[in-house]
Amino acid sequence: MKLYLFSLMASSFLAASAVAAENPTNAAASPAPAPASKMPPASAKQGVTFAKDIQPIFETACVRCHGATNPRAGVRLDTLDATLKGGTNGKMVVVGDSAKSVLVTKITTVGPNGAFSHPRQPLDNDQIGLIRAWIDQGAK
Ligand code: HEC
Repeated sequence: MKLYLFSLMASSFLAASAVAAENPTNAAASPAPAPASKMPPASAKQGVTFAKDIQPIFETACVRCHGATNPRAGVRLDTLDATLKGGTNGKMVVVGDSAKSVLVTKITTVGPNGAFSHPRQPLDNDQIGLIRAWIDQGAK
């Protein structure tokens, strides 16, 4: 049993490194981002702001990994400035273009089970729509 588990782990590790090797420029991002056509559409809500609409979503779903303490990938989502600044891979928000923003492509990337894969408990379509509207409206 132990040996079986070990070889299972070893083979999935090898499979993962094979994928990474095929894609040396972006080894961390294995699944391809969702095309814009598959993304939930931007919300029709007007006057979307970080403080009013976005911060509460990030606070609940993201800040435990993307806050001031040990932010994963250098990404902090606890303040507007930090969110606009980006992480170790650079900026995540293309102001005015949510479909091109890593912040959106990351959370709309579909995993092997057909569901959004980041984070493990993904945002729902309305929350993603609000984030898109916020970026499209100028990320204020
Ligand atoms: C359980 C921890 C965890 C949670 C919760 C989490 N993340 Fe992440 N996030 C990570 C880790 C680890 C990475 C780096 C590895 C990767 O890219 O998957 C990452 C990477 C990212 C990146 C990639 C940055 C780049 O430039 O490549 C973005 C964007 C991101 N997260 C956004 C979010 C958003 C938005 C939420 C909330 C909806 C969220 N994350 C919730 C752990 C988490």
